[in-house]
Amino acid sequence: MPRTSAAPSSPDGSDRRPSHAAGAGSSVPTVTLGRSVPAGAAVVSVPAFADRLTKVDGVRKAVLDRAGFAGRVGQTLVLDDGDRARVVVGLGPAAQVGTTALRKAGAAFTKALRGYRRAAFVLPAELGGLTEGQAAGAVAEGVVLGGYRFDAYRSQAPSKAPAAVTVVVGDARAARPALERALAAADAVTFARNLVNEPGGALTPAVFAEAVTERASAAGLTVEVLDADAIAAAGLGGIVAVNKGSVHPPRLVHLTYEPAEPLLDDDGDPVTVALVGKGITFDSGGLSLKPADGMMDMKCDMAGAAAVSAAMCALPASGVQVRVESWTPLTDNMTGGDAQRPGDVFTARNGRTVEVLNTDAEGRLVLADALCLATESKKAAVVDLATLTGACMVALGDKIAGILGNDDGLLGDVEEAAEVAGERVWQLPLPADYRAQLDSNVADLKNIGTRFGGTLTAGLFLQEFVADGTPWVHMDIAGPAFQAAEDGEHPKGATGFGVRTLLALLSGWGVDGEEPDEA
Ligand code: BES
Ligand code: MN
Ligand code: ZN
Repeated sequence: MPRTSAAPSSPDGSDRRPSHAAGAGSSVPTVTLGRSVPAGAAVVSVPAFADRLTKVDGVRKAVLDRAGFAGRVGQTLVLDDGDRARVVVGLGPAAQVGTTALRKAGAAFTKALRGYRRAAFVLPAELGGLTEGQAAGAVAEGVVLGGYRFDAYRSQAPSKAPAAVTVVVGDARAARPALERALAAADAVTFARNLVNEPGGALTPAVFAEAVTERASAAGLTVEVLDADAIAAAGLGGIVAVNKGSVHPPRLVHLTYEPAEPLLDDDGDPVTVALVGKGITFDSGGLSLKPADGMMDMKCDMAGAAAVSAAMCALPASGVQVRVESWTPLTDNMTGGDAQRPGDVFTARNGRTVEVLNTDAEGRLVLADALCLATESKKAAVVDLATLTGACMVALGDKIAGILGNDDGLLGDVEEAAEVAGERVWQLPLPADYRAQLDSNVADLKNIGTRFGGTLTAGLFLQEFVADGTPWVHMDIAGPAFQAAEDGEHPKGATGFGVRTLLALLSGWGVDGEEPDEA
């Protein structure tokens, strides 16, 4: 495929990149490791288990009771009565302490810090079987993720500098590698959030591609960016169709991560996993226009592409042993004079023809081409992330992603990885008989089913473009990618959902001789 650069190319120059597209304008706390509470720390945590409230270091139970502090995960109580302020941090019952509780505790601690800049988080003595490194990593993730702010578009710079938190452990040297991995993952989440929080009018496909190119090159990945001509030449009819209503040319970013010592499959080829992410930089619905309420948050419709790109850039620092390639199709979905019309037909990369009856079901059109590309050569697995259907939010709410796929082994691996990451997923079915809903009067298939089960018919549509025999999982992140209210380590707005599940999945691949995809 031709290789092109991601040069600005809109006629009015509006594809110029905002100076903050790669991160300036957002802030997160910094985290370091220490063996003791630093002298300069103005505030220190006091860990408290819900079932050990009489044993909280230096704090009488009566004080906790009076404040209504029960030690629930994420509950905090600020005691500003001595030389150094203390934040009592709830960890839940001692027997259940784990990375999820510690991550939430770290997030709650950061939020309780307002005003104090230098702080220390002291790990509890009991870690429920976790190593100090794992525990410190979970706390650090919580601190960074929970302390994220996006201020790029405020005229006044935020008055408070981000906090500097020391996580206090017994053996800092042993804990350091796990902490570094956690910080790399958290930094990737921040990058994904920044991309998603950028307005659709600022983060055009060219700008997105440029920001990812810069970060991916710095991380040592191979970067290939297809521009409009290359996309058309490659027969990516779905991307071309969705882009017809836009003045901003599309892009497709293809990243490759080559591990230093790649795992080899039975044929002696490097085991390769493919990632695909939906990159609709703004979804107006196209001519099947969305109502105002439904359009308000649609700058988030590239969250799949953002999560995939961010995870890719963190693979080198995560020591992943498997080869990984990603494809992220980028365009907005607009209503320009030559926008695709309901009833129009296009030909996808694999030659299948699609009748577009609702232009608002556009994500599956660009993903179709990307899934074809991703599975044209042998892959151990392909995972796609997409803010694909409002129906998935109806089914699972805004905190749980739907997962659908053709391989029970891979589905199980994704569930396990999500559990490790503290991101919630739930499997939905791909009922073969529902495929008939996608039969078209004029083409090979149409892009919508009936009113009901929209997440399932979307999944069945995507499945048509996954090469036979490739294990595949689709994650519908429409709900958790972008949230109306903050919740623990997930801020209001972009959450970066999926980044850490992907990193957990890929970090575990082939480790301990386990083949994650053997069903
Ligand atoms: N981007 C939307 C899905 C979405 C909705 C994401 C809410 C995040 C929050 C997607 O392109 C879409 O519009 N889907 C349609 C499909 C329908 C026309 C079959 C939907 O869900 O209504
Ligand atoms: Mn849509
Ligand atoms: Zn969309």
